[in-house]
Amino acid sequence: MSAELDTRLATALAAASSDCIVFDLTGIAGQYDHLMRELPDVAVRFAMKACPVDEVLTCLADRGAGFDAASPAEIAQALRLGVPADLIHYGNTVKSDENIADAHRLGVRTFATDSVQDVAAIAAHAPGARVYCRLATSGEGALWGLSRKFGCSREDAVAVLTAARAAGLTPAGLSVHVGSQQMTYEAWQQAVEQLAETMVALREHKIVLDHVNLGGGLPALGYLDRHGRRLEPPLDKMFAVLREGIEHLRALNDAPLDVVMEPGRHLVADHGAIRAHVYRLTERRQPDGERAHWLYLSCGKFNGLYEMDELCHRLVFPGHTEGEYVSAVVAGPTCDSDDAYGAHRPVPKSLASGDPVWVLSAGAYATSYMTQGFNGFGPLAHTVVHDGSGRAGAGTGGRET
Ligand SMILES: Cc1ncc(COP(=O)(O)O)c(C=O)c1O
Repeated sequence: MSAELDTRLATALAAASSDCIVFDLTGIAGQYDHLMRELPDVAVRFAMKACPVDEVLTCLADRGAGFDAASPAEIAQALRLGVPADLIHYGNTVKSDENIADAHRLGVRTFATDSVQDVAAIAAHAPGARVYCRLATSGEGALWGLSRKFGCSREDAVAVLTAARAAGLTPAGLSVHVGSQQMTYEAWQQAVEQLAETMVALREHKIVLDHVNLGGGLPALGYLDRHGRRLEPPLDKMFAVLREGIEHLRALNDAPLDVVMEPGRHLVADHGAIRAHVYRLTERRQPDGERAHWLYLSCGKFNGLYEMDELCHRLVFPGHTEGEYVSAVVAGPTCDSDDAYGAHRPVPKSLASGDPVWVLSAGAYATSYMTQGFNGFGPLAHTVVHDGSGRAGAGTGGRET
């Protein structure tokens, strides 16, 4: 899979006359199909939080995906789109009694957990449900580690699933999440080891699982790091490690073992892009005495680029193919100083207020992390394209930075 800007997306971005986020449904469907070729036999439960956009969810559901929901509201959205309840699980270990009861009423029967307190609540409000226990991982190697808040130790997992069985629930599985935008294949090797050790420990308590959930974490390919350098995760090696790991876990289990994954970012990030525009390119003396350029855009941390503190997005300045470039800090439009990328980036010196800017690989965690109007900057409208929906011919691209 490539993260290069494809013609469909470029055409839609060029055609947009105001700010919006565009999702390429053909690209997302292709990404799903690629994942299925790499990991046949794995059931995908798309992590809705990464892109809770109806058209995107429908596109993935049409390919055969189910959904990982983090709240009753996400469950209700998936149901409204026609997704059967048995293809939705409640993947958030953090939930109130009311959340559990609502999910159960909506027909969801599979719940993530990581504590005996949560198990007791599931038994009370979703009697007879299937539970899987999330193991804690270090999060090392990921841009967002997701460690500490979720997951438990091997010993705790045994206690949790034993308590589940005693409470009339089905101790069905184990899960891990190696951290979002995981950059190392070793993280998957460690996760598989943890799963294997816990399965052996569970066997001593006569608990045999019917599935493992390998979580999210698969990376996107189109990001730059905080310093503006291309991130190059070893995706092929990750898939190879996952295939080996799955084989190992299946060989270890005393019963058939289904394998589930909850990718979010990997399926959508590189197939969404934002059409923003230039507010102003300025030059000012900084507190250190140096003069610096700042490029302010219409879009930033609070309206689509929430993840800008950990990574840089590639930018395209259409129409600016030639001419001088200057090094600038790129920032969003709000009065918040966090609303800026960390790195200096080359930008065309001739940029003028109103010029369009394309922000690439912005399809994940963009719509879900937009504020309702911080400083009066409301959420971006979204639009979708797919094969057959676009006009012919790409728009005028510019140099990508
Ligand atoms: C439980 C769970 N599953 C899946 C995901 C998706 O992760 P990613 O977008 O890194 O694939 C997340 C993200 O936070 C998560 O919390």
